[in-house]
Amino acid sequence: MTLEEKLGQLQQFDGEASGNYRPEHRDLVRKGLLGSTLNVRGAQRTNELQRIAVEESRLKIPVLFGFDVIHGYRTIFPVPLGEASSWDPAVAERSASIAAAEARAAGVHWTFAPMVDIARDARWGRIVEGAGEDPYLGSIMARARVRGFQGRDYSAPDKVLACAKHWVAYGAAEGGRDYNTTDMSETTLREIYFPPFKAAVDEGVGTFMSAFNDLNGVPASANPFTLTKVLRGEWKFDGFVVSDYTAVQELMQHGVAANEEEAAQLALNAGVDMEMVSRLYNKHGAELLRTGQVSQTTIDEAVRRILRIKFRLGLFERPYADESRERAVVFSAANVAAARDTASRSMVLLKNDGNVLPISKNIKSIAVIGPLADDQVDMLGPWNGDGNAADVVTLLAGIKAKAPPSTKIIRYAKGCDIEGDSTQGFDEAVVAARASDVVVVAVGESAAMSGEASSRSSLDLPGRQLDLVKALQATGKPVVVVLMNGRPLAISWMAQNSAAILETWFAGNQAGNAIADVLFGDVNPGGKLPVTFPRSVGQEPLYYNHMNTGRPPDPNSKWTSKYLDIPWTPLFPFGYGLSYTQFRLSNLQVSATRIRPDGRVTVSVEVENVGVRGGDEVVQLYIRDVAASVTRPVRELKGFQRVTLPPGTKRRLEFNLGPEQLGFYNREMRFVVEPGEFKVMVGNSSADPHELVASFEVQK
Ligand code: BGC
Repeated sequence: MTLEEKLGQLQQFDGEASGNYRPEHRDLVRKGLLGSTLNVRGAQRTNELQRIAVEESRLKIPVLFGFDVIHGYRTIFPVPLGEASSWDPAVAERSASIAAAEARAAGVHWTFAPMVDIARDARWGRIVEGAGEDPYLGSIMARARVRGFQGRDYSAPDKVLACAKHWVAYGAAEGGRDYNTTDMSETTLREIYFPPFKAAVDEGVGTFMSAFNDLNGVPASANPFTLTKVLRGEWKFDGFVVSDYTAVQELMQHGVAANEEEAAQLALNAGVDMEMVSRLYNKHGAELLRTGQVSQTTIDEAVRRILRIKFRLGLFERPYADESRERAVVFSAANVAAARDTASRSMVLLKNDGNVLPISKNIKSIAVIGPLADDQVDMLGPWNGDGNAADVVTLLAGIKAKAPPSTKIIRYAKGCDIEGDSTQGFDEAVVAARASDVVVVAVGESAAMSGEASSRSSLDLPGRQLDLVKALQATGKPVVVVLMNGRPLAISWMAQNSAAILETWFAGNQAGNAIADVLFGDVNPGGKLPVTFPRSVGQEPLYYNHMNTGRPPDPNSKWTSKYLDIPWTPLFPFGYGLSYTQFRLSNLQVSATRIRPDGRVTVSVEVENVGVRGGDEVVQLYIRDVAASVTRPVRELKGFQRVTLPPGTKRRLEFNLGPEQLGFYNREMRFVVEPGEFKVMVGNSSADPHELVASFEVQK
């Protein structure tokens, strides 16, 4: 390969918003100067450009087509934060696998997913793209998603290459403001932010994306510690790293590169193999090599990593997409059915006083109210691939399908907009509510209020939506609040005053059908929050696995860690979610009272459905290292199982704890299990008042 051709393999360019390639791409591909594109998709278009690479370029190296397939390609599943609420890695794997099959059929080889950033601050808009705040749940979901996208062999016609992003600590942006600085200890990096990425590597993820943020003074896209020492050295990652969009060029804005040459030099030498959109490697690579600022080995290694992945994808053997396959695979009835199932498994019942839910199928009339009640666009959430709003079943449509208007009166009123001050629609909504047996009100955020560059300083329901809920509740009718949103919201008033609240996130194509399944009891909700809901934005960042401090909050003592104006506790804790039935945990057993640092214990517990309908419970196991050489979290999730139990049945669940779960990074950054007492807590949330507690001792 000539140097030019090598640098060409390191270059990725963006297509048109429509999914087409740009005219200049043809020429670049013909000359062997463009290794990859993003956003170019569709079997026919990708084939057109591929034909030029394979038939007209000197070396015939196929183009690698990337695209953000985040929660579905054309069949849109719940947003990732919603899907993580299922606490069900099998459904996450299935939706990634369906997304992969659709994308590959449409000529896409590579998805920029899963996004595995831990997010402890609900203001950050991109919290919607990940699995929430916890490294353990995040790791399980990361593995499931990588497995779903890539399978065992991503050269298969229904698999795509995955990309763990954004490496790293992007979710810790100060103030929750997107792209902002991150600054944290190596301990926090290793214990909280790294694990889902490590899990992705363990699952064989083919690529990483280097993030936009600066981390402890060194931008993540020029950070030799994270990109080379940890990723390549410690974890033996042998795939390639792509920069985030123009992140190489942004090294100049960060103020670590004085000019373009320096930006390219820093990123390449740190370990960023492919440059997304900016073209500094291409422009300055030859000069950097000539002056010895970048070595031939570094360039060759980056090229080798990219070509290796192209070989693994089978692109040299099968460069083209099959246009007839695309039509059969994309948005098939089976895929749509899976989206409905996934959506209903992702919903979290936050409140259900007096068993307002499920709604009886015998009621005569129902009022469906709210700015999101008949909204197709927002149900797709941010990053919705090739999703089409016309495919979306709204809540109103879902309720109509479940409760035919021939047998029921269904009254719809929008009430108000998501944002804005107008209350003009309130009267109509209140009239509809008064005339109906039950009211379902859909409120929340627009899809554009979360996602990239969509941070908020308030976590309140925007606009006049809360006033709308209040006006409806003033009618005295039973009101069910259906939340649709991409982040935790501060909904204290509703948590106190509304009878029923169902968190549905942005549930995708089948949102309305899936919500109706839950509202009418055909599906018993079993999701749990993957992220803490605060009482007020002022509590952020707020997360369950915090340290105890020297002065843990005590209601009876002023000089302890809390607020003057609100309780320190969350509104809804991590891991929380109700069901239409009740479960009881009992008989917690730990297999040993003493183990060695390299030993293991088995923890077992019985879970029983003590209610009258079948349902799912997510049994959660937390540990606490009571006294160690460094402070340890008050609790850490180390195991969970989602089980389905018919009424009156019980099951014994087992969890295994060993060094991977009990260890931590000590002051010397060594991963160790230290002697001393460990507490084991098993419950149905991170703050279950009925949780069972046991302990064991680690002895030298
Ligand atoms: C985002 C990435 C995304 C990329 C390509 C960037 O702005 O941060 O998450 O994969 O664009 O669309």
